[in-house]
Amino acid sequence: ARIAVFASGRGSNLEALLEAFPPENPLGHIVLVVSDKADAGALEKAVRAGVEAVHIPWPKGGRQLFEQAALQLLAERHVDLVLLAGFMRLLSPAFVEPWMGRILNIHPSLLPNFPGLHAQKQALEARVQESGCTVHFVDTGMDTGPIILQRRVPVFPDDTEETLSARILAEEHQAYPEAVRRVLMGQK
Ligand code: GRF
Repeated sequence: ARIAVFASGRGSNLEALLEAFPPENPLGHIVLVVSDKADAGALEKAVRAGVEAVHIPWPKGGRQLFEQAALQLLAERHVDLVLLAGFMRLLSPAFVEPWMGRILNIHPSLLPNFPGLHAQKQALEARVQESGCTVHFVDTGMDTGPIILQRRVPVFPDDTEETLSARILAEEHQAYPEAVRRVLMGQK
């Protein structure tokens, strides 16, 4: 399978995915990294790995421009699977519908709890004793869509947003490659 990753930021999940799906991997490999941010660390990581890295601007109110360009690029590169990894934008039904079942996202909470921004902070404020991460198929909602897998972590009384985020992130780096393997092997 030919995989594209969409990322807005530092790209540590991208890094885990690049390691799990290198060029010679028979199950799938990453052929394209797209970012809405020109200075995303993810683009740099892609370049370093020898993977095509494309900045597609998302101007204010310009979601359609981004989505049209991205849809075209995915078609031109014969992409089979799209992975959102720290992609901080909500894609419209016009983008998601043609990709339904072939587009995944990772979120730093045990969905359906704490969707949206600052999930780790939301978990701390709710004083839960457990949190984690979720890999799910993307539908037209925000962090909704069928769950593929979750990994759990404890939340400690003295946790800060930073310490909890780091504990969850380590699980994300295991969870995302595993979920992609399951999808590519047809187990989900
Ligand atoms: C991760 O916590 C991801 O779940 C969230 O944004 C963060 C991205 O981190 N949506 P990175 O860019 O993959 O390092």
